[in-house]
Amino acid sequence: MQYARHYTIINTMKINEKLTALIKEKGLNYHIVTYGCQMNDHESEKLGGILEQVGYVPVNTIAEADLILFNTCCVRDNAEQKVYGNVGALKKRKEENPDLLLVVSGCMTQQAQAANKLAQTFPFVDIILGTHNQYELAELIAERLLDGKTILNVLPEATGVHEDIPVKRQGGPLAFVNIMYGCNNFCSYCIVPYVRGRERSRLPQHIIQEITELVQNGYKEVMLLGQNVNSYHGEGSVSFPQLLQMICEQTKISRIRFMTSHPKDLSDELIAAMAAHPQICKHIHLPVQAGSDSVLYTMNRGYTRGQYLLLIEKLRMAMPDIVITTDIIVGFPGETVHDFEETLSLIREVRFDSAFTFVYSKRSGTKAAKMEGEIPPEEQRDRIVHLIDIQNAITEEKNKAYEGKDECVLVESTSTRDKNHICGRTEGGKMVNFAGDEGLIGSFKTVHISQAKRTTLFGELR
Ligand code: SAH
Ligand code: SF4
Ligand code: F3S
Repeated sequence: MQYARHYTIINTMKINEKLTALIKEKGLNYHIVTYGCQMNDHESEKLGGILEQVGYVPVNTIAEADLILFNTCCVRDNAEQKVYGNVGALKKRKEENPDLLLVVSGCMTQQAQAANKLAQTFPFVDIILGTHNQYELAELIAERLLDGKTILNVLPEATGVHEDIPVKRQGGPLAFVNIMYGCNNFCSYCIVPYVRGRERSRLPQHIIQEITELVQNGYKEVMLLGQNVNSYHGEGSVSFPQLLQMICEQTKISRIRFMTSHPKDLSDELIAAMAAHPQICKHIHLPVQAGSDSVLYTMNRGYTRGQYLLLIEKLRMAMPDIVITTDIIVGFPGETVHDFEETLSLIREVRFDSAFTFVYSKRSGTKAAKMEGEIPPEEQRDRIVHLIDIQNAITEEKNKAYEGKDECVLVESTSTRDKNHICGRTEGGKMVNFAGDEGLIGSFKTVHISQAKRTTLFGELR
């Protein structure tokens, strides 16, 4: 099915001066807890931007906060259960301090039934909003604090692309930049299209302008974000590879990454753009989900095993050292032992640098929720353990191949374990830990890799 492309740009932030005065007078502060993907991490940066614009000050813990915001995820059941547990745990604090403001937003509460259930289970929650009206946060807080209303406000559909939301970035030399929102793919297991709405692409000039400002503010690397970045369709029919080229030519950003790419939209033009521009990191996250054609078909992924393998071949032909990572779901309804073995044989054949592996989780409202042939939980667990064992060995072997090599690392932070160590990522996105001064954060350094473990490479400054 074809959907209309949305370019509607909306500037909607409304700031109530009475609210700002009240927050500043009381010296109120906030803490955000984020669940889910990088899209949500970035949305929390925007929610933080709104809160700071009206005068809230950030604090590092829930215990110190006057406003606690949970930005939720619902991609799997365990993500939702965590939210219920963590919100429920605040009941006593809310009783002791009725002025404490509890806000729940995001993908989980975008589902009307989950928002209602949350409001009924935890009537002490002050504000519930979805993904489509996060720009209204300041107005909703004003209604709560000035008018005393408890608010459940979830918009059924996205209204367009909001361009005036301030962003409170987490710091470091990396910045998230949304290029599109929503998803039109309706993979049969996935709730995202229902809670994020249809695809909406930002205008190319807004993306270029944001990256130009980031460069002026010292950022070195951008992560372009979208549920499916390679379906980007900017005004004037600008495609994703064209957007990448524009960013490379019109901005001075040193490194560009993007996430997530969908195999069905991975064009030869995109591969050529990645190979042609040194600023574009030679790393692609390309979720395969399953190795058998029948499971890929019932998942509605839009490609076959053979087509996926051909893409891997093309990527490696164009960029022999490219780092390829993936997502895999095991125990999808109807997945036979043979189907699962096809997934194992695919990961052995491709040799991904790493993989996020998930047990299938039934999401109500999706097509797969009505499918027969559910796999018993014990069988799902056995399969994922087996899969992880094989992938871990591959990941370790792949990392070992870096031992003895020099890698260019963008230094991001000091190590959490040892203050005299700093860490950063290679172009392929691998984390490297080495002795060095925190003054190097934000610069590119050549590091000699001396030891490789499964999750981290260790080395010395050249
Ligand atoms: N838009 C991205 C990411 C979507 S969510 C993409 O298409 O790749 C991230 C991952 O969560 C998916 O790639 C998938 O592997 C996993 N996932 C989504 N729905 C799931 C479900 N119902 N059960 C288990 N894993 C799921
Ligand atoms: Fe979900 Fe598929 Fe869209 Fe990814 S592409 S968000 S897995 S429906
Ligand atoms: Fe979760 Fe929403 Fe991201 S469901 S994975 S936070 S898009």
